[in-house]
Amino acid sequence: MRVRLRPLRLEDEDAATSAHQEMLEEDFEFLIGWQPGTDWSEYVTSRRELARSTTVTPDQVPSTLLMAVLDDEIIGRASVRFCLNEWLAWHAGHIGYGVLREHRHQGYAPEILQQALVVARAHGVDRVLVTCRDDNIPSAKVIEVCGGVLEQVVPASAEDVAFRRYWIG
Ligand SMILES: CC(C)(COP(=O)(O)OP(=O)(O)OC[C@H]1O[C@@H](n2cnc3c(N)ncnc32)[C@H](O)[C@@H]1OP(=O)(O)O)[C@@H](O)C(=O)NCCC(=O)NCCS
Repeated sequence: MRVRLRPLRLEDEDAATSAHQEMLEEDFEFLIGWQPGTDWSEYVTSRRELARSTTVTPDQVPSTLLMAVLDDEIIGRASVRFCLNEWLAWHAGHIGYGVLREHRHQGYAPEILQQALVVARAHGVDRVLVTCRDDNIPSAKVIEVCGGVLEQVVPASAEDVAFRRYWIG
């Protein structure tokens, strides 16, 4: 497997912003917190600073946004949170990941999640919370293949769709 995870770079602007637009169609935020018109170099700098930060706020926690690249092409991404705020602890967990449509069904997702787990553990996260929508069969399979143990399926509510909470020890 030749997939690598690496931090966002200045030269990623075109590929990463177009990945962002593509995945918004699936309600997936490829570039967390990025909006069209955001200055790219400021965005890259802010993501780097977040990886060095130690401050947890209701909006942001120390985390790293890593591009999954294959032969220098961005094929997906992983976001690794080094600790959790209240919302992350309930809903989104330590790791979010995604693969661009044209690169799916080739087994890259488990490789990305496995590598993201190594990053989380290197930052002291021993038990990793990973969640997905209850109807996201591919993601549930990926999490289970990577050792996820289902804690619960949270039923749909007025605020949210049903989602699964998994722990990877
Ligand atoms: C979830 C996601 C990362 C899976 O990526 P992928 O590259 O297709 O993953 P894989 O090729 O490794 O496939 C994973 C498993 O799901 C299965 N699968 C893939 N698409 C499927 C589908 N539409 N229906 C049922 N199973 C499917 C694969 O066969 C594989 O199962 P297997 O190991 O038993 O063969 C990708 O669909 C994605 O990025 N979705 C949008 C973002 C997202 O949902 N992220 C996860 C939530 S944090």
